[in-house]
Amino acid sequence: MAEIICSESQAKNLKGKVVVLTGGAQGIGAATVRLLHSFGAHVYFGDWSVENGHKLQESLSSSSSASGGTVSFRQVDVRNHDMQLALFDDAYNAHGRVDVAIQCAGIGEPDGWFEPEDLNLETVRKEPKPIQQNIEVNLTSVLYFSRIALAYLKGKEGDKQVDGFSKSIVLTSSIAGITEAPGLFAYSSAKHGVIGTMRALRPFAPQKYGVRANAICPWATDTQLLAGVKGQWVEEKMPLNTPEDVGRMILQCAVDGSLNGKAVLVAGGRGYDTEEGIDRCLPQWMGEELSRQFLKGQEILGLGGNWVKK
Ligand SMILES: NC(=O)c1ccc[n+]([C@@H]2O[C@H](COP(=O)([O-])OP(=O)(O)OC[C@H]3O[C@@H](n4cnc5c(N)ncnc54)[C@H](O)[C@@H]3O)[C@@H](O)[C@H]2O)c1
Repeated sequence: MAEIICSESQAKNLKGKVVVLTGGAQGIGAATVRLLHSFGAHVYFGDWSVENGHKLQESLSSSSSASGGTVSFRQVDVRNHDMQLALFDDAYNAHGRVDVAIQCAGIGEPDGWFEPEDLNLETVRKEPKPIQQNIEVNLTSVLYFSRIALAYLKGKEGDKQVDGFSKSIVLTSSIAGITEAPGLFAYSSAKHGVIGTMRALRPFAPQKYGVRANAICPWATDTQLLAGVKGQWVEEKMPLNTPEDVGRMILQCAVDGSLNGKAVLVAGGRGYDTEEGIDRCLPQWMGEELSRQFLKGQEILGLGGNWVKK
């Protein structure tokens, strides 16, 4: 089991770092903004909710951060490429660099697609509710975010960089991105896609951009997204994260230069890298000979296989 331990002393390295975050107006994103601010980071967060975004910005700006953290909010619809770009511009224009990029925005499952009580030979003839918007928020926007983040984290020659700080992208998937998730068809498809984005980045971004990439996969976390099942969850004494638990795991991925290519399952406040087991057991599930050929194939394809333990 590859547990990821959060280190307060490493988190202190966030002081003075420039962080861009989407989906920061409430829930996990807002908890992460608060933590970043408390460690003295300069946080530029975007969200569709203007009311919650401004409220959080005002509450943090009025509470003096002993560590010197600052917060800036901009309304962003993550489906809109230029709005995401403008958020990164805010940070880059003010500080001349971006150090960490965190994607948190997400939405739940649309209804009217797979419910067995509603789906039959008659109803299937009618086109279902559009699903594109959901996929756009939960997956397409993550690809926009990752591409824009790479460019800004890399910056340009002559930009003032912070010595010894390992820049990174942290994406937010879900337990529904690594296992089956009953009833979550569009959500789970998109969240598996986020893991795909992280896996595509992990051999490539460190080599080509000097940027690490990790994904956070929360299990049940106490935000409005869980409202429908929270009662039974608590009654059954199931592991429940606070939004801060997940935020701390996001911070750990941001500050620990040894973490790249992890998918961190967060459950009951603890974090476990699920990729380590998949990679380590490659010869078992793929077979000895095919796994050898596969790793050689990865080298031929230019991926180096350097993120898989041999
Ligand atoms: N709560 C959980 O149990 C749980 C579990 C697994 C994964 N997650 C993931 O964690 C992330 C945060 O979720 P949360 O539980 O804090 O939910 P939340 O609803 O409290 O917060 C999500 C935030 O994203 C913002 N957002 C939604 N659509 C947007 C858009 N188009 N543009 C900009 N902002 C947008 C919302 O306004 C909100 O502030 C999501 O990606 C979610 O899928 C949550």
